[in-house]
Order: sequence, then structure tokens, then C-alpha cells
Amino acid sequence: MLRLKALGHACFMLSAEKYSVIFDPWLQDNPEAVCGPGDVEVDAILVSHGHSDHLGDAIPISLRLGVPIIAPYELAMYCARFGCETAPMHIGGGRQFEFGHVKLTQAFHGSAIVNDDRIEYTGMPCGFVVTMNGTAVYYAGDTGLFSDMKLIGELNDLRVAILPIGDNFTMGPRDALVAAEMLKPDLVVPMHYSAFEVIRQDVNRFAQELRERSLDCLILRPGQEEEV
Ligand code: NI
Ligand code: MN
Repeated sequence: MLRLKALGHACFMLSAEKYSVIFDPWLQDNPEAVCGPGDVEVDAILVSHGHSDHLGDAIPISLRLGVPIIAPYELAMYCARFGCETAPMHIGGGRQFEFGHVKLTQAFHGSAIVNDDRIEYTGMPCGFVVTMNGTAVYYAGDTGLFSDMKLIGELNDLRVAILPIGDNFTMGPRDALVAAEMLKPDLVVPMHYSAFEVIRQDVNRFAQELRERSLDCLILRPGQEEEV
């Protein structure tokens, strides 16, 4: 049994008995955030790409706790510049950590860090399949729909798929339904759909449409935690 907690937008915490990891910890300046970066206690920080709503507060959290940032190589190297401990990985690669196993999956998106007038590219964005206590969770990151999601579903017995549904920057609800059908998780957890006006979606309707396809949806409001 794992616990999954939504912290707003694309930020989630996944916990087993002894260990917790956080995905894309954007908390400061996140209109949905229910806690600050100083409140987070985790064993590792997984960052899918360099956009500010994902890299977020990863660097200060890593520095405060002395825990690694797990990210695609180029993004990990960016974080290392600030003195962070890092675990650079790349698409298709898996690694066993003390808290569990992490495998990086492809994501179709960008991964630039935009600082004032400078745009710094940090390689490919990614998604993650994290397995803790024998339970596999797919965190898609920011991505459009791609048909290899079928393969991710075949290679992993997914308990949960955390999928973006916001449209505009990522899959919208219609494509996320197709993704869910390919991934075949026990539970679909929608993300990335309400922090900004341009990605606003009717999440209850999405859940209904999943149910019509015999798929279960778990809507986690910011701050809400459930066993999965
Ligand atoms: Ni993004
Ligand atoms: Mn995003």
C-alpha cells in the first residue's frame, strides 16, 4: 500500500512506510499549493523537466534536506551547479534506490529553463515509473499523447497513472482518455488542469468519461492524500 498526496498542479508526494518522494515540487508561487517548500520532508525529488511549474523549488528543498534530485542528465547537471546532490538518469534507464525503483520514460514536451532574457535548454523532458513496495506508479510528466504508452502499460502492472489533462501545454482530457486505455492502470489520477486559466478543465466530467470506459479515476484536490 502506498499513499499519494496532491500538493497542487503537477506536484505529488508518494510514500511507503519508511520513504517518501516528491514529483515536480512547485510550491512557492503555485496558486494551488497547500504548503511551502520548507514543509516538505522527502528522501528524493523527481523532476520531469526544467519548466518553472515543475523544477519549482526542487533546488532549495534538495539543499535543505541533502536529498538527491533525480532528473534527466542535463537537468540534473543544471541543479548540480547550485550544489545539489543529483542522480542523473535518462530515458529508458532504470535504477534501484533505497526507497524503490525509478525508470525514466519519454515525454513529448520541452525542457527549457527561462531566466529573464535567457533560455537554457535542459535536454529532454521525461516521465517516471516509480515502484515502491511492489506497487508501480506512472507519473507522465508534461506530455502529449504517444502510442508507446501502450508499451508502458504492457511492461508495467500499473496501480496508478498520473496524467496531465489540462490541454494547451499537454494532453487534454480527450487524449488522456486514450492514454488511460493504453496504460490500463487500476486508477487514473488527473493533474495539470487547474492552476492557470488556459488549462482549466472539468475534472468531474473526465472522471465520468473514464468510468464509462470501466476505468477508475481518483481526483486528488490539493492537500488531499489517499491510499493507493
Ligand atoms: Ni512543462
Ligand atoms: Mn507544466
